[in-house]
Amino acid sequence: MTDSHPGRVRVAALFDDLAPRYDQGPVPWFRPIAARLVDLLDPQPGDRALDVGAGRGAATFPLAEAVGATGRVVAVDLSPRMCDLLRTSVADAGAAQVEVVVGEARPGTLGASQFDVVAASLVLFFDPEPAATLSDWMRLLRPGGRIGLTTFGPVDDAWTAAERRVLAHAPADMLDVRTSGTRGVFGSPSAMAGLLEQCGAIEVGSHDEPLEVTLPDAGAWRAWTMTLGMRQIWESIPPPRREEVFVAAATELEGARGADGRLHLTQQVRYTVGRAP
Ligand SMILES: C[S@@+](CC[C@H](N)C(=O)[O-])C[C@H]1O[C@@H](n2cnc3c(N)ncnc32)[C@H](O)[C@@H]1O
Repeated sequence: MTDSHPGRVRVAALFDDLAPRYDQGPVPWFRPIAARLVDLLDPQPGDRALDVGAGRGAATFPLAEAVGATGRVVAVDLSPRMCDLLRTSVADAGAAQVEVVVGEARPGTLGASQFDVVAASLVLFFDPEPAATLSDWMRLLRPGGRIGLTTFGPVDDAWTAAERRVLAHAPADMLDVRTSGTRGVFGSPSAMAGLLEQCGAIEVGSHDEPLEVTLPDAGAWRAWTMTLGMRQIWESIPPPRREEVFVAAATELEGARGADGRLHLTQQVRYTVGRAP
């Protein structure tokens, strides 16, 4: 069912590779972001919810809890391996209301006007055609249904400087939160709100909220980013230069060292929500 667009094929391959370690480490990241998104969407018992780009289930499980045994959650992801691992977690949790589907969330496959709630946490910036894809997600909502997206706003100065060292090596066409995901429609809350409105939503709001990550040192930062989409950027650096780039990034991260000796890094998380007319 995976679309043949080369951008999506690459994204599926990246997340197949990342899946086993994805969202399994000690850094609270995907889950607090997805939990906040689900709070904002406020699903009700009995609702039908869709989690697009479900990954290891950061939004799937809070959605399942909110809709309860009488509701339904469809979790869709391009990556077959993510879906396999999520299916196992769903079975372990006994969440019988959750169905996991490999592929894209399109009206042609899932059926139009099916869902009360659509959530897509940290997904849209990986898509090669975000406006067309988001318009399709809107078509999946019943009239009055709610949609919520998370993307990223800025990171603090030390993190920005460290990332700049790594991003200098990213191929120009790379679809990633740290490349395409900070420009154009992803560049501001008002642009994200405009995109969602353009795709047919009403009552749209978009705002940023800070999320702090605390890490012991730059080595822990690199290890963590290697479990994220950013791994593809590290791997695009020729191996002989990777250590040099890491040392430069580590020097920049010193600016984030707090009085407790740890690195304190802040990411602004962008929450954009709206409603189908
Ligand atoms: C950064 S992860 C986020 C996963 C999860 N939502 C979370 O917050 O932990 C992005 C996920 O979206 C999936 N993905 C990207 N574009 C997609 C698309 N157009 N349709 C379905 N899944 C997509 C990827 O395979 C990946 O598993």
